[in-house]
Amino acid sequence: MRIGILTGGGDCPGLNAVIRAIVIKSINVYQDEVIGILEGWRGLLEEKYMKLEKSDVRGIIFRGGTILKTSRTNPLKIENGLNKIIKNIDKAKIDVIAAIGGEDTLGIAKKLFEAGVKIIGIPKTIDNDLAGTDYTFGFDTAVNVAMEAIDRVHSTAESHSRVLIVEVMGRHTGWIAIESGMASGADVILIPERPFDIDSICDVVKKRHNAGKDFTIVVVAEGAKFKIEAETDGTMILQDMEKDAFGHVRLGGIGSVLAKEIEKRTGFEARFVILGHIQRGGTPTAFDRVLASRFGVAAVDLIHKGEFGKMVALKGLEIVPVPFGEALAKTKTVPDDLYAAAEVFFG
Ligand code: F6P
Repeated sequence: MRIGILTGGGDCPGLNAVIRAIVIKSINVYQDEVIGILEGWRGLLEEKYMKLEKSDVRGIIFRGGTILKTSRTNPLKIENGLNKIIKNIDKAKIDVIAAIGGEDTLGIAKKLFEAGVKIIGIPKTIDNDLAGTDYTFGFDTAVNVAMEAIDRVHSTAESHSRVLIVEVMGRHTGWIAIESGMASGADVILIPERPFDIDSICDVVKKRHNAGKDFTIVVVAEGAKFKIEAETDGTMILQDMEKDAFGHVRLGGIGSVLAKEIEKRTGFEARFVILGHIQRGGTPTAFDRVLASRFGVAAVDLIHKGEFGKMVALKGLEIVPVPFGEALAKTKTVPDDLYAAAEVFFG
């Protein structure tokens, strides 16, 4: 069999571990041929490929990013894009595609499957917002990077008696914020699922400072929003008005808005840190390397069983196949009980 692999959307730690697993398993067990498709869907539109041998995946399990490169190219935004892809898959004599990506990449995979392409999915995103899987790889690394950063700002916040706001990624969900905030003992965690009231945050800050704990650590997800009020109208803070090819706005900046508001309302000095792409770069954690490797191995079996139109997923401790429809039906948000557990430590 000739298998084409691509990585699409934002990169994340663990992509190389999946590529390595697919290449090794499919060559060793099934004597498949593996073709790397470069730069996500763009590679299929522009016929950019590289043959992948076992020698190409040696020593990559600990490398961040993706040796296949990635892009946010959306074939639906290109004239006749899906048909071009279908024609090029045929031209390259690729029997089946393994698409590694988040909701955008897998959304295109679903459309191709409906058009008759043999395709399976492997879920990745640091945001952990894909339904149908308990965890996506990349998330654990992002949480650990954020946790280390929050641990570090603790001492400087304490030395200067400041409020320190750490803004983390996560798009429209607060998974990274809730887990990194809990792990590092943050005093307040703000997530998009729970629009926040600035007065109650300021009350927490004042109470802490008056009680002699004269610093506060606030972890805020980039998509967190103020409760509707005159100054802010309850919308998310954007870096600019640009949208990417999948219609996503560029979030970012809530940390600086919060720092100004808290300083103005409480009189305590506030600073902010935006962790940004640091959370996406560098070497994956052991958890992500193992999850990515298990996904890759299971994906090859899925292909050989002919179970197309599905993605591999982690449910409990098992790797199971989940139909694209189920995986893409909704965004997986932070559940109330997890937020309630985090809240126990606020203040
Ligand atoms: O989806 C992953 C993610 O890192 C989000 O957390 C973030 O909002 C977005 O991608 C940033 O995208 P880009 O890399 O295009 O700036």
